Amino acid sequence: MKLALIGFGVVGQGFARILMDKHAELQDLSFDAQIVAVATRSRGALYRPDGLDIADLLNAIGQGDLRHYPDAPGLQRDWNAERIVRESNADAIIEVSPTNLQTAQPALDLFRLAFEHSKHVITANKGPIALAYADLKERAGRAHRTLGIEATVMAGTPSLRLALESLQGCRIREARGIVNGTTNYILTQMESGMDYADALAQAQQLGYAEPDPTADVEGWDAASKVLILSTVLFGKRLTMDDLDVRGISSITAADVRDAAAAGERWKLIAHVTPEGGSVQPTRLPLTDPLAGVANATNAITYDTDLVGPVTLIGAGAGAQQTGFGLLSDLLAIHRAGH
Ligand code: HSE
Repeated sequence: MKLALIGFGVVGQGFARILMDKHAELQDLSFDAQIVAVATRSRGALYRPDGLDIADLLNAIGQGDLRHYPDAPGLQRDWNAERIVRESNADAIIEVSPTNLQTAQPALDLFRLAFEHSKHVITANKGPIALAYADLKERAGRAHRTLGIEATVMAGTPSLRLALESLQGCRIREARGIVNGTTNYILTQMESGMDYADALAQAQQLGYAEPDPTADVEGWDAASKVLILSTVLFGKRLTMDDLDVRGISSITAADVRDAAAAGERWKLIAHVTPEGGSVQPTRLPLTDPLAGVANATNAITYDTDLVGPVTLIGAGAGAQQTGFGLLSDLLAIHRAGH
């Protein structure tokens, strides 16, 4: 399968590194993937129909720009993302550019273009899925291509696949959980006495936070996952205005200490039902399973009619963790024989 990466930041590089490091294991699965194009907004673009070398790609971006990629026969350096989608030989677009929760652009138009050109779209980008999942799914269906979205909620922890595939046949009545790694990391560090700003800086350094971490700390990133869960689980397209959203920026060290003294912990809890959703900092007793979910780990509980509550705990952010979410969608396409 030939892949075009749109975006080559933390997640794109994490994904590329997995393809490189797991090359032999993937070949054992008869899965042969090759990166033929990488496009960034300000750090250059590359297209080579016969494939790009991943070590050279990582090396070039490590030096700050894809211009550092060595010359090779057939290498194009001036194709932008749109041209790559229109004219390259890629079978699938791996879209990992920074998310825009207001307009979902430019990714949204690029996804539509990709389906028009019969390419699969695999993404970790929350904006287009939060805003236009039903439309995109319908376009993917018409093109007989796949829209892969596992990485948008809980990184590579299979939260959406669990709900859509393993729990198929159950009615999910609600989902409740911790779906933002950055804020959970900050709250955990604050419990050990770290300052809010230092904890946020660490979360940024570890690659958990959004490029503008306001989206994390004010609850908008978690809210985008509530919008995704609502449209994916319940077929209900909500907007941010429909949600009650509060982040953690107003939680002080004193609040954290008070909760600990009372045997409780603050967690940023996302909640979604067929009727609506919310994101709220909540004081949980230590007996609540979500209270024990620490650092960038996320968790989600689906309340189902047939098996009751089903809880999944796992990574919610990070380069490798999100990169795996993308790979899991590609492997699903491979298993389906497309
Ligand atoms: N910034 C997000 C988080 C990344 O911290 O959870 C994963 O969506």
